Formats: sequence, C-alpha cells, structure tokens
Amino acid sequence: MKTNWKPDSWRGKPIEQVPVYPDPEALAAVEARLSTYPPLVFAGEARKLKKALAQVSRGEAFLLQGGDCAESFAEHHPDNIRDFFRVFLQMAVVLTFAGSMPVVKVGRIAGQFAKPRSAPMEKIGDVELPSYRGDNINGIDFTPESRIPDPRRIEDSYRQSAATLNLLRAFAQGGYANLEHVHQWMLGFVKDSPQGHHYQEIADRISEAMAFMRACGIDPDTAPSLRSTDFFTSHEALLLGYEQAMTRVDSTSGDWYATSGHMLWIGDRTRQVENAHVDYMRGIRNPIGLKCGPSLTPDGLIQLIDVLNPDNEPGRLTLICRFGAGKVYDHLPGLIRAVEREGRSVVWSCDPMHGNTIKAVTGYKTRPFDLVLKEVKTFFEVHAGEGTFPGGIHIEMTGKNVTECTGGARAITDEDLSDRYHTHCDPRLNADQSLELAFLVAELLKHSRQGQALQAAAASGI
Ligand code: TRP
Ligand code: MN
Repeated sequence: MKTNWKPDSWRGKPIEQVPVYPDPEALAAVEARLSTYPPLVFAGEARKLKKALAQVSRGEAFLLQGGDCAESFAEHHPDNIRDFFRVFLQMAVVLTFAGSMPVVKVGRIAGQFAKPRSAPMEKIGDVELPSYRGDNINGIDFTPESRIPDPRRIEDSYRQSAATLNLLRAFAQGGYANLEHVHQWMLGFVKDSPQGHHYQEIADRISEAMAFMRACGIDPDTAPSLRSTDFFTSHEALLLGYEQAMTRVDSTSGDWYATSGHMLWIGDRTRQVENAHVDYMRGIRNPIGLKCGPSLTPDGLIQLIDVLNPDNEPGRLTLICRFGAGKVYDHLPGLIRAVEREGRSVVWSCDPMHGNTIKAVTGYKTRPFDLVLKEVKTFFEVHAGEGTFPGGIHIEMTGKNVTECTGGARAITDEDLSDRYHTHCDPRLNADQSLELAFLVAELLKHSRQGQALQAAAASGI
C-alpha cells in the first residue's frame, strides 16, 4: 500500500474543475451512503485488465477503448447499450483478425458522466449560467435551476452505471458476443456500406478463417472462448468525491482499488503533478490512463510517470495521446523518446477525437472524419519511425446513426449535422464511421505487424 496515501488525501491538494455544491452537507450525506454501497467492479477484474494491458505494452495485444463522450440519464435505454456493444464487437473482430493478436476491449461506459469544461460559465445572449458539467453533476437545460450541482445526481449515476454494467456483463458472457453472430453483423455492414468493396477482402478472409476453424471442429459450440468475451469499463476520474466513496480495500491483496470502473483516466486539464487528481490516481492499483495533449512536455511526462507508476509496472499506465491531426509530429516523438530513454513501460494509445474538434459553419461543434483518420495514421507512422508499438485507439462513438462528425463513406455534410445531433457533449463517430475507422486501423495494424516482422528478420539476418 502507498505510504502517506488515503482515498481522501486529495482533499488537501489544489484542485481544478470542481463543482461548487450549494449544500455541502447533502453532498457529504450522499458520499457517506455511497461508501456503503456494493462496488461496481471487483479488484480481480481490474488486475486481469492490467495483465491484458501489460501484453499491449509488449506489442502482443491491441487496445480498443471507446464509447460516449458523456453518458446521459435521458439516453439510458437498453437499445443504446446494445447498439454500442454491437458496433464495438464488430470493430474488435476486424482488429483481432488484422492484427493477429487479442484485442483488449474497454468501454467508455457505465460511469462516464462527469465532464471537464473549458469555461466555468456559459453565456447565451445576455444570460450567463454555470456550465453543464455532466449528468452526475448538473442538468444540460439552460436554466438557473438545472445548472445547480445536485448531489442526488451522483447516486442516480451510480445506479445507472450498475444497470448498464449488468447488461454489458450479460451480453459479454451470455451469448450475444458469439463470434459467428458478430461476424454476420459485420458482413451486413460491408454489404450496405457505399465503400463496402474496400472492406470486402478482409471480410472474406475472416469468413474463410471461420469456415476453416469450423471444419476443424472449433466453433462456438465446442470452444467457449468463441461465444464470450472479456469487456471492461472505464471513465474519466473527475468527480473525486464519488471516486473516493467507491474506493475499497481489496480483501485478497490488501491494496486500494477504485471500484467505480476497471480503468480510470486523468484528463488533460487535471493532470497537474501536485494536484488532487494525480494524487488520487497514484494510490489506486487499477490500470490507469493519462490524457496527453500538446501542453505536455517530455520532462513533465516523466515526472508524472514517476508519481503514477513508480514501480514501472507493465499495464499500469496507458498514455492516451490527443494532439490534433496536424500536431502529432510536433509532440509525439519527443514523448516517445523520453519514455524510451528512461526505460518506462507504457501503453501508447491514440485519441484522434479531442484534438480535432472544430465549429462547422452551421454552428455545430463537429469533427471531420478525415482528420480523425489522419491523426490515427500519423500516430502509427511516428511509432513505426521510433520503433515503438502503437498500442491502441481511444474514440468517442455510438451505435446509433447520429450525424455529429462530418465525412465518412456516407459523406455527412455541415448541413446534415442538424438531422440527428444528439450528443450531450462532444460529437461522436456514428456506427458506420466507427466501423470504417476499424477497417482502416486494421490495415495500419497489419502493416505495422509486417514491419515488425521485417525488422526482426533483418536483425536475425534472414
Ligand atoms: N473470446 C475471444 C475474444 O474476446 C474471441 C471472441 C468471441 C471475440 N467473441 C468475440 C472477439 C467478439 C471479438 C468480438 O477475443
Ligand atoms: Mn469528449
């Protein structure tokens, strides 16, 4: 156990992005109740995820992390959860095949409520109100009442997370994740997509591989691993009062674990090394993520790694890079070189969403799909140049056919954005765009694997 650390040590530190509750006693009462509620996840599961991420850090597996920018109370519907999971699994199949390696599946779900904001206040016309900070804090409606932080929302989000996670566990283990079904869904996508011919080849090869396995007697009836999957949850650990209440000692190891989700991450706005969020995260033993934006220097990163992963434990720390498509070359090589020079074990993941948000002429916040792709491509290119492994992607996506990001095979335009713009926060890739991205990443992953094989062959003189 970490010395000088308790789940509440963060309370003595400077903190950013913290909501001001008008009734601190009501907040304290909610937190006290929460600390007696059942954990959402079990420490053994967090350890299992950490092991899987350790594989990623060695280049033996690939991380797929994705989900909503912000979950909401209004969209808590089983169909939304099902549709998200359906697309996510299809992406995972494509990547598993192309990479010939396991895909570690982590959702931004069952706890992804709190949002950091660039400004504490929002102004519309002459009216200025506190910014919306996520459904677990205040309401999105632009009224004075709705924007007041209400601690009851924390309990509501805990219960929603429990229900969401319950359904996801049932899907993952109860037959919905059957590989043959997932593959059939994917064939449907390929048939209907305007760009389907690009994906036909991979799809055909997966069909062949599955037919071959079946002929050999390996199918979902005989092999349990083909009918279920491990799915993990993650969210930004922003609301520390909630996280503290959900932090528990694991009885088997005696260590502290966050039990609000399997993996938590620190946002780009709250990663100051002396501050509360970093302090909280250093003490829990879960695998954790760190968002790395353009303002992070190589030295700053090493300082953070010193605090967050002092034992250099593989799988503990995932660096989620989000620079913007045109800025990857300015920032990523320096960070990679510092990590390599210091011999630190990390997972490198690419968030191609948050550095590529623009305002469309129609006024909507959007992300051009081309820029999203370009950031991922550049991320792979830089890693190929540095001889390191591009370990994963982190995306904001939904299983619905929303119109929030422009572009893609169905060419959503600025004018289309108003059709189905449903996000509570940032624009998400829709179902088709998510799958298109998976096919493109699959190509990149295949090449990166072939590149590694060539390097190995060259090194061994073959
Ligand atoms: N259990 C394996 C895995 O999770 C294979 C598998 C079963 C799978 N269902 C899946 C892979 C759905 C991706 C998607 O990797
Ligand atoms: Mn976001």
